[in-house]
Amino acid sequence: MLPPAAMEFLEQHFNVEVNPEDRPLTREEILEKVKGRDAVLTQLVDKVDAELLDAAKGVKIIANYAVGYDNIDVDAATQRGVMISNTPDVLTDATAELAWALLFAAARRIVEADKYFRAGKYKSWSPMLLLGQGVSGKTLGVIGAGRIGTAFAVKAKGFNMRILYADEKPNPRFEEQTGGQYVDKETLLRESDFVSIHCPLLPSTRHLIGDKEFDLMKKTAVLINTARGPIVDEKALVRALKEGKIFAAGLDVYENEPAAEPELYEMDNVVLLPHIGSATTKSREDMGILAASNILDAYEGRVPRTLVNREVLNKLGK
Ligand code: GLV
Ligand code: GLV
Repeated sequence: MLPPAAMEFLEQHFNVEVNPEDRPLTREEILEKVKGRDAVLTQLVDKVDAELLDAAKGVKIIANYAVGYDNIDVDAATQRGVMISNTPDVLTDATAELAWALLFAAARRIVEADKYFRAGKYKSWSPMLLLGQGVSGKTLGVIGAGRIGTAFAVKAKGFNMRILYADEKPNPRFEEQTGGQYVDKETLLRESDFVSIHCPLLPSTRHLIGDKEFDLMKKTAVLINTARGPIVDEKALVRALKEGKIFAAGLDVYENEPAAEPELYEMDNVVLLPHIGSATTKSREDMGILAASNILDAYEGRVPRTLVNREVLNKLGK
């Protein structure tokens, strides 16, 4: 179900059929349900490939209820003249804030400390109890200088941090807003106390962080991933956490969602969240309204405001 405000908006304009379950549809269900639709609003767990696009023959637009769209074969959609839209901007701050929440939780062992307290283990204040890593004045490494990476780094100003970033190319807007310095990935990993991932999942970013990269990182470093799970080699992360190659990690995404590597569930030096980066009441509502607005744009002959595949416009003669 989408938030009520988004549902109302959709229902004002369209005949809507909604997945009534609080679970993703099965593949068979989706292939059946998309038949004959003008538009389909998808979630990031829905794989949109050539088979689904063919089942949805005649569909004008697939509106993804997410900023990331690695679940969609965009080329296959473009070839078939199907528009694809996503939900950027409205979730930028929410996701950047969650990355900070994870950073502090992992650095200061918040979840572990809470468990300790609840278990009745707190008997007396102690100089050595639950020591973590400080944040102020440290070096922050940002991988991916897009909207979310920028919003994340801007928020570091109050902590007086040195900011390094890595991306495919330098980003003047990022540098202007954050004072960050462009470096290669290896330099970033060697010098950063905190490394936070904000790039999209692409063939070139799959396993961007693996054994080799963990070897470069500081033993006191903290890794945060709120982007996409497969960017980190999760088995290598388990090894790094176990062997003390890094101090801790904070994850909101996993290689094989909804599961994580079994050993992670048992480890205290990792904070595990169920992909809630954009999960504020306002962001989730705005994402729904933006997805619906894209559908309305497509339906009424306008270019959808957050169209992903502009090339499709040539194909559609616009
Ligand atoms: C969530 O992961 C999104 O891409 O919006
Ligand atoms: C996500 O869309 C980003 O730009 O970081």
